[in-house]
Amino acid sequence: MKIFKTIESLQTGLSLIDTNMSLGFVPTMGALHQGHLSIVKKAKKENDFVVVSIFINPTQFDKADDLKAYPKTIDNDLELLKDVHCDFVFIPDVEDIYPENVKSSNFDFDDLDKVMEGAFRDGHFDGVGTVVKRLFEIIEPTKAYFGEKDFQQFQIIKKMVEKDHMAVQIVPCEIYREKDGLAMSSRNTRLSEEQRKEAPLIQQTLLKCKSIYAEREISNIKKMVEDTFKDNDILDLEYFEIADVQTLLSTNDKLPNIKYRAFIAVFAGKIRLIDNIALN
Ligand code: PAJ
Repeated sequence: MKIFKTIESLQTGLSLIDTNMSLGFVPTMGALHQGHLSIVKKAKKENDFVVVSIFINPTQFDKADDLKAYPKTIDNDLELLKDVHCDFVFIPDVEDIYPENVKSSNFDFDDLDKVMEGAFRDGHFDGVGTVVKRLFEIIEPTKAYFGEKDFQQFQIIKKMVEKDHMAVQIVPCEIYREKDGLAMSSRNTRLSEEQRKEAPLIQQTLLKCKSIYAEREISNIKKMVEDTFKDNDILDLEYFEIADVQTLLSTNDKLPNIKYRAFIAVFAGKIRLIDNIALN
C-alpha cells in the first residue's frame, strides 16, 4: 500500500498504472470502521486497483465546532486499509484541495439537496459536491463507491456526475451494521452505554415500516414511528420521511412504479444518528 500526500505524487503514482486497468475510488473522511472497509473490499473485488482518500472536508461542515471535533485516527486508518489490501491512500492538505479559497461551488442538484439532511445543514451538499468533483478530477476513477447509509449523498453525487457528464460510474454500497442492527458510524462510539443499548430501535422501527408497508397507509406508518419515539426517553425523533428514491420528495401516497425508501434521523442526547431502508 502506497501513501500519497500531494496531488503531484499521487498523479505520478497513477500514471504508472496500466491504462487498461479499472480504477476504483472510495472517498472518506477517515475515522474508518468496518462500514468503510466493506466498501473498500467491494471496490477491490470489482476493480484492478483501488484508491482511498482520507480528507476532512471543511466546506461540508456548517458548524466550526463539528469540524474541529471530527475524530482523527490516521494511524489506525492506515492499518485497517493495509489489512484490506488497499493499493493507494491519498491524504491531501486543505491547500491542495482548495488552492485559492476554502469555499464551495454552487451546484444545481435539482432540489435533491433541499430536503432531509440538506434542509437543516446550509450548504452541506455544495461542500460535498465540491470536494468529490475535485477528487474525481485528480484521480479520474473508473468507478466511485458511496454508502447507502448516506443515501441522499449517493443520489446527489449521481446527479452531479450525470449533469456534468463525468466519466465515472457511481456505485451504491449496502449499509453495514453492528450485530444488533445499528448502522455503523464513527459516532456510535460516543454513545453512552444506555444510549447504545437503545439505538438498535432505529433499525427495528425501519424494519417494522417495511413489514407493514404493503397493507398500511403512509400516514399510518408515520404515526407508528412517531408514537414509537414519543414513548422513548433516550431517543428523540428529528425526522421520519417516506420518499421517492429518485426525487427524494416525501410522499403521502404510494404511486405505482415508484420505489420508496424510509429515512430517519434520531438524536441520542447530542449525537445524531441516521438510517434508511428500501420499502418496495
Ligand atoms: P465518510 O462519512 O467518511 O463516509 C465515507 C463513505 O462511507 C460514504 O460513502 C458513507 O456513506 C460510507 N459509510 C459510512 N458508514 C457506512 C456504513 N455503516 N455502511 C455503508 N457505508 C457507510 O461521506 C463522507 O465521508 C464524505 O461526505 C465524503 C463523501 C468523503 C466527502 O467528503
